[in-house]
Amino acid sequence: MAVKTHGYGILGMGMYVSENVITNADLEKLVDTNDEWIVQRTGIRERRKQPPGKATTDMAIRASRQAIERAGIDPEEIDVIIVCTCSPDNVCPNVACEVQEALGLGGQCACFDLNAACTGWVYGMSVATSFMRAGVYKKALVIGAETITRFIDYADRATCVLFGDGGGAAVVGATGEDRGLVGQFLGADGRSKDILRLYDTGSMTRTGDPGGSEIGSRVEMYGQEVFKFAVKAVRKAINNALEDAGQGLTMADLDMVFSHQANLRIIEMAASISKIPMEKFFVNVHKYGNTSAASIPMALFEAEEEGRLKRGDLVCAVSFGGGMTFGASVWVW
Ligand code: ACO
Repeated sequence: MAVKTHGYGILGMGMYVSENVITNADLEKLVDTNDEWIVQRTGIRERRKQPPGKATTDMAIRASRQAIERAGIDPEEIDVIIVCTCSPDNVCPNVACEVQEALGLGGQCACFDLNAACTGWVYGMSVATSFMRAGVYKKALVIGAETITRFIDYADRATCVLFGDGGGAAVVGATGEDRGLVGQFLGADGRSKDILRLYDTGSMTRTGDPGGSEIGSRVEMYGQEVFKFAVKAVRKAINNALEDAGQGLTMADLDMVFSHQANLRIIEMAASISKIPMEKFFVNVHKYGNTSAASIPMALFEAEEEGRLKRGDLVCAVSFGGGMTFGASVWVW
């Protein structure tokens, strides 16, 4: 079946992770945990960690350079840079402005960071293609990059085994009707905001109280609540994006699904309740852990590298994250 698209899609992708690998055995030296528990409960075997002195901007720049090269465009064609992150180097300047300068595009395009936690890149792609559909911009650089390990308490075994650092980037532009975005859905439920938090990085940090924040800068979560939210959110988001796509598309039409790589068991459970065969879900969480907004662009990049993602495939990107946010988009690759 020929699926009609909106005519805007990914022209090239890039990815970067540090060579600094943290294995489950490394974590066994820090907290009371073991490889068997981590692999069985999460599917994660190792993750990457940015070295001292390097953070989110570094990965965003490296992934972007590769995406631009693969897209075969002149960087000066880029109209807007969107960096999806909840772990920017600093709140101001934003990471996007740092990337703009590093790419030699100083003063030449719009730049902003977008925080929808782990759903950030799905939100960012929606914003970029919406600019294009409205005729505002022609080309965008949409980056997901996170240095979450800087906000992990390495004494908390429930969270420290889960997260890693990484960056992925996409150049987005006109693709013609046979490729690109088909449908999308963005959602959020602030009522569940307290089940997953990255505390102490915002304007509540300096409370003015003598002791400052009592909590400390770190990720905190109620793992089982996040798990339940995620599984339901994945099914709902895919369904709604397919409905937005119209054309009678159903879950059965999807060739591949790129779910946020938080935990293998979440992906397996979401596949099961969505009745999509697990073989259609790309998985690389065992290598990188949860890299938040970077996880989907990194997965897309690796799937293409491995030859698993082919031109013409109907692909769904679906995510969930702090807020709680969730969302999905359907593309002809
Ligand atoms: N090693 C060994 N034991 C551990 C570890 C560990 N790293 N972490 C927790 N435990 C222990 C607990 O202390 C508990 O022990 P107890 O029974 O003696 O009290 C036991 O294991 C079971 O703990 P649970 O929290 O019930 O374990 P669960 O099966 O729920 O797995 C997990 C925990 C992996 C965090 C799971 O809840 C999960 O994956 N939740 C989703 C959270 C997630 O993916 N968050 C990522 C961020 S969310 C996002 O990206 C949007």
